[in-house]
Amino acid sequence: MKKTLLAAGLAVLMILPAGAAMRRKPKAFTHETVEVPAIEAEIIAISAGNSSLILLADEDRLLYTLHYGSKVADPQEYKGYRTARFTENGNLNYTYPSTGGEFVGVPALHVRYADGNHNTDLRYQSHKTTRSGNVETTEIFLKDYVTLLEVKLIYEAYQKENVLIEHSVITNPGKEPVELLDYASGSMYIEADNYLLTHFHGAWAHEMQVEREMLGYDTKVIESLRGVQATQSQNPSFMLSLNTREFSETGGEVVAGALQWSGNFRLSFTRNESGRVNVLGGISPFASAYPLKKGESFETPGMIWTWSADGAGGASRNLHRWARNYGIYNGGSVNPTLLNSWEGAYFSFTTKTLTDMIDDAASMGLEMFVLDDGWFGNAYPRNGDAAGLGDWQLNTSKIPEGIDYVASYAHDKGLKFGIWIEPEMVNPASELALAHPEWIVQSPGRENYQIRNQWVLDLANPAVQDFIYGVFDSVMQMSPSIDYVKWDCNRIIESFYSNYLSKEQDRFYVDYVQGFYSVMRRIREKYPSVIVQCCSSGGGRVDYGALRYFNEVWTSDDTDAEIRVHVQYATSLIYPACIMGCHVSDVPNHQTRNVTPLKFRFDVACAGRLGMELQPKNLNEAERALADRCITSYKQYRDLVFAGDLYRLASPEDGPWYALMYVSQGKDRAVVFTYSTAFQVRDTGGQPFRLQGLDPARKYKVTELNVDSSCWWGSGRSFSGSFLAGGGFNPVIRHKYDSAIFLLEAE
Ligand code: DGJ
Repeated sequence: MKKTLLAAGLAVLMILPAGAAMRRKPKAFTHETVEVPAIEAEIIAISAGNSSLILLADEDRLLYTLHYGSKVADPQEYKGYRTARFTENGNLNYTYPSTGGEFVGVPALHVRYADGNHNTDLRYQSHKTTRSGNVETTEIFLKDYVTLLEVKLIYEAYQKENVLIEHSVITNPGKEPVELLDYASGSMYIEADNYLLTHFHGAWAHEMQVEREMLGYDTKVIESLRGVQATQSQNPSFMLSLNTREFSETGGEVVAGALQWSGNFRLSFTRNESGRVNVLGGISPFASAYPLKKGESFETPGMIWTWSADGAGGASRNLHRWARNYGIYNGGSVNPTLLNSWEGAYFSFTTKTLTDMIDDAASMGLEMFVLDDGWFGNAYPRNGDAAGLGDWQLNTSKIPEGIDYVASYAHDKGLKFGIWIEPEMVNPASELALAHPEWIVQSPGRENYQIRNQWVLDLANPAVQDFIYGVFDSVMQMSPSIDYVKWDCNRIIESFYSNYLSKEQDRFYVDYVQGFYSVMRRIREKYPSVIVQCCSSGGGRVDYGALRYFNEVWTSDDTDAEIRVHVQYATSLIYPACIMGCHVSDVPNHQTRNVTPLKFRFDVACAGRLGMELQPKNLNEAERALADRCITSYKQYRDLVFAGDLYRLASPEDGPWYALMYVSQGKDRAVVFTYSTAFQVRDTGGQPFRLQGLDPARKYKVTELNVDSSCWWGSGRSFSGSFLAGGGFNPVIRHKYDSAIFLLEAE
């Protein structure tokens, strides 16, 4: 069987209305076709631990996805596979569907050629598989026989983690430039009776809110067009629970995905008439028709996929393990507990305020002090958010002794020291804005709108990249005692225009993010061991693109523990606890005015990287004692929070309880967190706390932490893993904001 392609130069049949002026002379149709040499059909099998992706390159060199899901023992059995469907008209499951050929639908690849033609028809050339330790890499080479466009699909299969990362490299070897109109990183076909989509929307101080919906027969799009802070409204990640209308933590097939990109993104889920769903993930094509000149290539970011038959919990654990081992800068290593100056001092501090806070942090057993916003700017001092951004020199009237003095003071007290920067931004009231107006993202002749009194610097410009790298570098030079940098980013991009890119504005959104990554690569080369937090107003850059360079994120600016329960729960579906900065703050909460007990605040923050963000002087003696106790016990089990396996026991989205546990890899230790988010009356129903991940045959000593008398009758005794999994574990957390933490140690 051989198919041919109509040759390039195929003219559009122009039917002109009577009297219309003929603008262009139509070319004659040609019936010449470029021949595609036939091959023997070939199965390409990629396995990632317990999952398989099976592709078929057929006789016509068309590349199809036949299966993604459970492990296939003998992939060759797929040879000769035929669909059972009535028709595949236009619904072909091409592995990297492009606009053109027989494909009709949402494309992974859509190219506009110099002659205006939109058709690309990719055909298989070859593939190769290599193995390096745990990672098997398969590269598949595709080519369009008419335009000669080349696409390389790259799959990295992480065997122990059951994770597959897909991305593409698109090369234009032709003579003319082309424009990439759509250029997804990856495409996956999933076949089930029905599909429950879980994804995450939000807003400032309310990030990562779970949204669940059944997929219908159309295209569902999740997209962010905010430029930076892309994840504050939508996160580039999802879970699809298959063959069910109910979200299950423990059972059923789940496919989860996440994109390694920190800018505009698009995830689309197209359920076509065949019932099959095609998921595409990649950079958003919005205003980004990316130009590729002759000989140029474009490499898309990675699209991470995982499949689990153990429900959402299994999919999360796959992603978490991969992230700790490969996806996060120093993932899984313990980051220090800290006191952050922001909510305790805001912009009003002197050296004494800071050294007093350091003394208090040291006496409470915290391990780092972080000086937040407000330490810089002289001509335009940063005494509020209206001035100073861009002028990264120490404000000598606020801290005349210098940063090194404060940082060394912290070190002398046994604490590490961290400092805040927001190097991508500039206040109009700054020396930088006056000196370099050409570095600012602004459309000529138009008002440049401010958000939080600031503008964005044009990271697509290499000179700005150098400047931003220089900000980090010069801040680090202020003291050898700087151990941690909090990298903030407090606005989105509007009315985009890069003075540097001039007529190539379509590159802006992509080049901005690539510029950001290039700066981070340089920083990591020079400062491999500095801990860097990706803050971004809280929750604004929570993605696996940024996490390759950052140790942790500031999970949300909302420090109200009740709100944090939801944000941390949802974040945990995709991202591991080791990245979540979680702080105990004052009451009434500065964002919500809500009042929660200090113990509840600690118990919520202790499920991630614990910190405090308040003025310690405002704590009374009893509160200080509780804080000491919680911090001390946290150090006993935090290795489990940072590197254990997460099991969610109850969801705050579904009922009045939230509970989770982290289990050591050897199943010999675990920590269980339980919370009540409402008053439990007699008809509230039974507690759902069935412990997971334990060895059923082993006995575990259960100890409640941070209290004198436990809320569980069994505390202090030992129980088998099977008993604890069976419902006998039922702590009395009856009132709103009751909470309890239990340490489990195998005997
Ligand atoms: C937003 C951050 O999320 C806060 O933690 C704080 O650093 C402020 N910016 C400082 O301006």
